[in-house]
Amino acid sequence: MHFKTIIEPFRIKSVEPIKTTTREQRVKALAGAGNNVFLLHAEDVLIDLLTDSGTGAMSSAQWGALMQGDESYAGSRSFYRFRDVVQSLTGFKHVIPTHQGRAAERILFHSILKEGDVVPNNNHFDTTRANIEVEGAEALDLVIPEGRVPSLVHPFKGNVDLVALERLLGERGEHIPLVMVTVTNNSGGGQPVSLENLRGVRALCDQFGKPLFLDACRFAENSWFIKSREPGQSHRAPREIAREMFSLADGCTMSAKKDGLANIGGFLAMNDDAWAEKARNLLILTEGFPTYGGLAGYDLEAIATGLEEVVEEAYLHYRIRSTEYLAEKVLAADVPIIRPPGGHAVYIDARALLPHIPPLEYPGIALVNALYVEAGVRGVEIGTVMFGLHPDGTETPGAMDLVRLAIPRRVYTQSHIDYVAEAVLYVAGLKKELRGLRIVSAPKALRHFTARFEPLL
Ligand code: F0G
Repeated sequence: MHFKTIIEPFRIKSVEPIKTTTREQRVKALAGAGNNVFLLHAEDVLIDLLTDSGTGAMSSAQWGALMQGDESYAGSRSFYRFRDVVQSLTGFKHVIPTHQGRAAERILFHSILKEGDVVPNNNHFDTTRANIEVEGAEALDLVIPEGRVPSLVHPFKGNVDLVALERLLGERGEHIPLVMVTVTNNSGGGQPVSLENLRGVRALCDQFGKPLFLDACRFAENSWFIKSREPGQSHRAPREIAREMFSLADGCTMSAKKDGLANIGGFLAMNDDAWAEKARNLLILTEGFPTYGGLAGYDLEAIATGLEEVVEEAYLHYRIRSTEYLAEKVLAADVPIIRPPGGHAVYIDARALLPHIPPLEYPGIALVNALYVEAGVRGVEIGTVMFGLHPDGTETPGAMDLVRLAIPRRVYTQSHIDYVAEAVLYVAGLKKELRGLRIVSAPKALRHFTARFEPLL
């Protein structure tokens, strides 16, 4: 190709209007939502970067596949298509559909964890951590030290600290039923894990006789980073790289709302017959029969087609570049972000941007709220509110205070992203005026979804 511009590898067939609001309307809406953007009506948001989960645009092939859905309760044709696609991608023997990623997590952990167990990961995402802690087990984060420093540039900041993992397996091995690795590492900034690191984790798992499970939500984005950053990988197709990633593991949990390019769905997949049987029994209790697992036949079709599209090179090239494009614009104005940018989102370092707001006054929430009030852009705090409250009721600062601007797949155009960049720069210019908040009410776990806040004066 002679041309440098990377274009969206699709054209738009159907459009959905978005609503403009005034600053005054947004101030009112946010106050009504207890100053928590999770509690806003989505209609009052102009550009919604709350999450890349379930918010993507399906392709015409996926919409077409919906009509092929077989809604049989048991043995649906759509299940077998879904199973075959997942198996050819992952190589896992058992494929268990679930209504989304956290259902796969709950079923896996409830079937195999007992009190006092420990589950290491590079970084557990919030639902993964909560589903481990609810079983009385401990969720441990073992990302490499570089992965904890937002400004530090490293090609694979999602890598697992192999020395720490080896020590943990040596010291507490009998309490570790499995090792997990999240690709890409969402809580750490959407950062990739290298094949070399995955091979290292595999070797340790073999040495200590432990199964390895991937939290595979963004496996395709991880494959693209391996292709573009890991020595010797550039000639390989993303699908082939993904296949190798999965081949290093014994199973995975997956949210098809991310790299399944679907609006709902997920799965649990594994090789172990006994674990799979336990998981299927629990699935029947809460999700549904093992050939639909809480999904409609048409959902299974949409996911099967999505999993085929997501590893296409043109798609991944555009996807990763569009995130990088936003990051470059924001960085050029010296707004601190996690570097290099991750696959699905740009993470602003709110703690660094707002040093006058201490972590326990939630700089991430202050920034999220300002972005909404000033520009109608909704991001999400990944910081002290999300991770600072512990099962024993104590509160400490989260490892970082980040604001994630997650980019839905195939939804926004370049001018939307230009607008977002302009909004971030505008709000960064107001930083001295931003104030922290205090929590007025919150539940004991996963408090970020429903907590209500009051601004401090
Ligand atoms: N694991 C990771 C790494 C995730 O990012 C998520 C969801 C899940 C598991 C759970 O999947 O939502 O289908 O139940 N992350 C979303 C986000 C919600 O906004 O990052 P789910």
